[in-house]
Amino acid sequence: MLTDEYDDCWLRYDRVGDAELRSSYRTRCAHVFASTEGPELGVAREELRMGLEGLLGREPHLWMHPPRTVDGFLAVGRRERMAVIRAAVDEAEIESLHDEGYILRSVEWEDKDCLVVTGSTDKGMLYGTYHLLRHLAAHRPVDDLDIVEEPRTEERIVNHWDNPFRASVERGYAGMSIFDWERLPDIRPRYRDYARLLASVGVNGIVLNNVNTQKPDRPGANEAIAGKEGWQLLRSKNLEKVEALATVFRRHGVRTYLSVNYAAPILAGDLDTADPLDAAVEAWWADTVDEVYKHVPDFGGFLVKADSEGQPGPYDYDRNHAAGANVLARALEPHGGRLYWRAFVYGSHEDRAVQSYETFEPLDGEFRDNVTVQIKNGPIDFQPREPVSTLFSAMPETNLACELQITQEYTGQGVHACYHVPQWKEVFEFDTRADGEGTPVKNLFMHDEGEGVAGVCNVGDDPNWTGHYLAQANLYGYGRLVWNPDLDTETITDEWVRQTFGNDPTVVETVAGVLHDSWPAVLDYTTGRLGLMHMMYNQGDVLENHYNPSPEEWPGYHGGAEDGIGVDRTASGSGYAGQFRDPVAERYESPETCPRELLLFFHHLPWEYDLDGTTVVQRLYDNCFEGVEAVRDMRDRWNELEDAIDEKRYRHVAERFDEQLDHAKLWRDTLVSFFHDHADVPDERGRVPPDDRAG
Ligand code: GCU
Repeated sequence: MLTDEYDDCWLRYDRVGDAELRSSYRTRCAHVFASTEGPELGVAREELRMGLEGLLGREPHLWMHPPRTVDGFLAVGRRERMAVIRAAVDEAEIESLHDEGYILRSVEWEDKDCLVVTGSTDKGMLYGTYHLLRHLAAHRPVDDLDIVEEPRTEERIVNHWDNPFRASVERGYAGMSIFDWERLPDIRPRYRDYARLLASVGVNGIVLNNVNTQKPDRPGANEAIAGKEGWQLLRSKNLEKVEALATVFRRHGVRTYLSVNYAAPILAGDLDTADPLDAAVEAWWADTVDEVYKHVPDFGGFLVKADSEGQPGPYDYDRNHAAGANVLARALEPHGGRLYWRAFVYGSHEDRAVQSYETFEPLDGEFRDNVTVQIKNGPIDFQPREPVSTLFSAMPETNLACELQITQEYTGQGVHACYHVPQWKEVFEFDTRADGEGTPVKNLFMHDEGEGVAGVCNVGDDPNWTGHYLAQANLYGYGRLVWNPDLDTETITDEWVRQTFGNDPTVVETVAGVLHDSWPAVLDYTTGRLGLMHMMYNQGDVLENHYNPSPEEWPGYHGGAEDGIGVDRTASGSGYAGQFRDPVAERYESPETCPRELLLFFHHLPWEYDLDGTTVVQRLYDNCFEGVEAVRDMRDRWNELEDAIDEKRYRHVAERFDEQLDHAKLWRDTLVSFFHDHADVPDERGRVPPDDRAG
């Protein structure tokens, strides 16, 4: 149902095979009375036309008034304009509904079996339309439908790390950028399809370009991955290109944002300073923002990576992050724009985990209201598993956003199946105790305007959008979980599989099972699953970077040495544990109470430290071996689907699983050899050192 050359992802709308079910859908949906008012409703009508045609096997009739001589119909519109909706929904319900919320309800009206989709805004109704289509694609009954939905998170954004003009994507494993900046403002059909995918899962904001907007000037900076020209987007001729994209996204309820360079007044303007307290700098930002809003009246705002990994920032002028952020925020304020300011700052401390808390916690309350501090889920960098960032509970007076990585930088990139939803769920549910028991992370960035979640996107110009077909589940799951962090992983997975691969129970069970097992497997063979991390190769070409195992390279991240392994982050070490609130801090302080999965993140322990009758090193060996077996098992289960799904997708994923299995063995053998070399402790089961490293 998307443009021909590209995969349909979860918007396939395959014909409903069961005749009885199809007939019940036809009664209520073969005739559609849908409002045509705003642009989002135009998108909703078009989606219904495509979706219902696919699902019902014939094009629906679209009406401008309620159809008379039919058994039933679908009505999409506002309560005040449609009698059928008034019959189904009370005024008070609409009044109390969030402006992105919607109601789906079946109702009998004038002896007809109807379905209504309504809300208080066009955007809400667009979301409701997608919900209905999702419901039908999963073959759920419609005769007694009563759904009231509201987003639980206000800002639901994807961050593209796309480098305009060079077309590459930092940490992208799905080809080049989907945005063709050379040809813009010419619009490609792909942009519209992408906007549909985002809207269908409730994403309401997009940052078009990389947070790295300039080649870092620090020694050893990895030029291959850093965006060089992003700051140029602020130039007028390029704002026309931004405007063209914003027009497409706006129709789908998605606001457009840009990453900007802190030194833009120098780079894009003609000033010789970017000092936030300089009046000329203040005026430059105000003028520049005015210009942006001339092109994009509903522009969302800016995202800034400052004083981080070689990008310029307020430190260049001896100003702190709040002063640095506020000058941009003041420029955006009159237009209703927002500044996302990243907390990913490290460098001067020997354990980077502690640093963003030390930098930002003292600034709580000093950021303007339209600033959102964007915090990565963990204190290091999107590792397969980390404890949550301590900053979430340290800035009650500041708007916060949680930054997640949808793209699989550290979890097998474009090759390995690794479903991130369970990991995000773990982060969201973690009880910080910030406001007593029962203060999960998700509560610290939900509800309020200016708070939300940003996901580093995994989309590129690959015909399947995400490089690996199964990685589509990460994009889908991101949108769904962020819309409602209370959704459970199983529900999200089930929805995705049914829409993407159909409703055959064996297929649903197998694909869901494979996804379910994928993250634990990656944790096993890339980390040993006791809280180690960052044992990846860290040099060289962008595709090798963070993919292959290389535990010797950065011993500081895992602390592997003759006397043991792990990093002491307790009071006797870097003190990261102490940045949590009690009793969480207390629990992490002692290896006796520290959860197993984070043990070596917080503690440096002897190799033969006792773990329930086994030792640390033996557990690491075992977990690495188990991880490989889990991949073998996932591959075998996938292979059983050969005749149950289409050849193209089947083969693509099967080939990737073969490659993943080989690579998992390489990981296992490299890690267990490393552990063995340092620990000098034999494996009880005689597998280490392996004879043939990749065998
Ligand atoms: C990581 C990642 C970089 C990225 C950076 C960031 O270090 O490897 O590619 O630029 O995070 O989030 O800014």
